Amino acid sequence: MSRKTLNIGLFGFGCVGYGLYQVLEQTKGLKANVKTICVKNKDKKRQIAEEYFTYDKNDILNDPSINVVVELIDDADAAFEIVKEALQKKKAVVTANKKMIAEHFTELLELQRKYEVPLLYEGACCASIPIIRNLEEYYDNDLLESFEGIVNGSTNYILTQTAVKNISYAEALKEAQEKGYAESDPTLDTGGFDAKYKLLILIAHAFGIVVKPWEIFNLGIDNISDVELAYAREKNLKIKLVAQAFKNAKGEVSCFVIPKFVDAQSRLYNVDDVYNGVITKTTFADTHFFLGKGAGAYPTASAVLSDISALTYDYKYEYKKLNQEEELHLNQNVLLKVLLRHRKEDVGIYTVYFEDISESYLNHHSGFIIGTISLDNLKAISGKPYLKHSVILFEPVPEGKKISEPLSLAALS
Ligand SMILES: NC(=O)c1ccc[n+]([C@@H]2O[C@H](COP(=O)([O-])OP(=O)(O)OC[C@H]3O[C@@H](n4cnc5c(N)ncnc54)[C@H](OP(=O)(O)O)[C@@H]3O)[C@@H](O)[C@H]2O)c1
Repeated sequence: MSRKTLNIGLFGFGCVGYGLYQVLEQTKGLKANVKTICVKNKDKKRQIAEEYFTYDKNDILNDPSINVVVELIDDADAAFEIVKEALQKKKAVVTANKKMIAEHFTELLELQRKYEVPLLYEGACCASIPIIRNLEEYYDNDLLESFEGIVNGSTNYILTQTAVKNISYAEALKEAQEKGYAESDPTLDTGGFDAKYKLLILIAHAFGIVVKPWEIFNLGIDNISDVELAYAREKNLKIKLVAQAFKNAKGEVSCFVIPKFVDAQSRLYNVDDVYNGVITKTTFADTHFFLGKGAGAYPTASAVLSDISALTYDYKYEYKKLNQEEELHLNQNVLLKVLLRHRKEDVGIYTVYFEDISESYLNHHSGFIIGTISLDNLKAISGKPYLKHSVILFEPVPEGKKISEPLSLAALS
C-alpha cells in the first residue's frame, strides 16, 4: 500500500509543538513535512526560521496544499474552532487537547462522520501510552470488564513527592510548580478535571458510552492533609489519583476519578513521578498493564507522531463500540469504601451519609471515618462548600457484597 504524503499545518509551538517539530526532523522515513506554524504571541522569539510562522489561522485553514492540521495549543475554546473549521474543510486533524475533545465529543463525532475526515488524539489521554488505539482495536473481540489508571502526570508527581520525601501536599505542589510540572493555576490537574476529561474519552473507546463531563464525578487531591498521608505511610499504602471504569453483569458502566489508596500488590503502586499507568481487565486475557511517560515534550510528541504516521495509511477511529448491538449505559449508583477526613467540629455531620462505619478517629483538630458511602452521597457532601473534608477511596464495593464483609484492597486490580 503506498503511503500518503502529508503537508502539515501546525497550531502551537510550545512544549509539545516544538517537541513534535524536533521529533519529525529525526523521523526520516515519514512522508510528512511541516509547511506553516500558527502561534499567538508576535513578540516571542522562536527556535526556528521566522518564515514558518503565521499569526492568522486562515493561512493554514485556507491553504489547499495543507492536508493535515495538528492542533497543539493550550486554549480549549480556540482549539475547538480551529479543529471544527479544519474538519469542515476536509483536512485530517491530530490533537492532544483532552479538555476540547471531552467538552465537544458528540459534535466532533458528527463532524468526522459528515465530512468523512479522521480526527486522531492518542496524545490526549496518557501522552506516550497507546491506550486509545488498544481500547479501540485490540479489545474489540475480548470482553473488557474494567480499566483503572493514573492518567495525570503532574498530580502523580506531587503525590510521589509527598510519599518519597515525607513532605506536605502544599510543599510538593510548590516544588512541582517550580519544576514546571504544574501550572501556576493547577486546579485543572489537582481538582481531577484533567483526569475526568481523559476518562470520558477512554470510556467512549472502551465501552462505547459517550457522556458529558458533568456526568462523571471527580474528586481531586487538593484537600489531602497530613492525616491521610500519615495513615497511608503507617499502612504501607500510597495515595494515587485514579480514574476508573467498570462494567457490571447487567452491562452497566460505572466510572469516576477519586484519590485512592494503592497497596504494594497493585501494579499502580510503582507508577511514580510523571509516569502514567493503566490496568485493563478482560474476561479471557485477565489483566494487562500499560506504563509510560504521561507528560513532557517528547513523550507527547511521540503519540502525535504515531497519529500522523497512521494518517499516511488512512487510519481513522471507527468507534466500533458506539455502534455495537449491546448498548451500554452509565450506572453511577455504586457503593464505595472510603476514608473521609473531616474537621473536629464536623464530626457529627458526616455519619448520616454513610451506609456503615468500620473505624473512626478524632484528635484535637481533625478526625476521619472509614466506611461505606454511596457515590450519590459523596457527590452530595462534595457539593456543600461549607464542608471541608478529603476523601480517599479503598475500593468500590462489588455489587451484591454485604457491606460488613471486609474488602481486599487489591480486589479490582
Ligand atoms: N505538555 C504536556 O506534557 C502535554 C501532555 C499531553 C497533552 N498536552 C496538550 O497539548 C496541548 C499543548 O500543550 P503545551 O504544553 O505544548 O502548551 P504550551 O507549551 O503552553 O504551548 C501552547 C502554544 O499554543 C499557542 N497558542 C495559544 N493560543 C493560540 C491560538 N489561539 N492560536 C494559535 N496558537 C495559540 C502558543 O502560542 P505562543 O507560542 O505564541 O504563546 C504556544 O505556542 C494542550 O492541549 C495540552 O493539554 C500537553
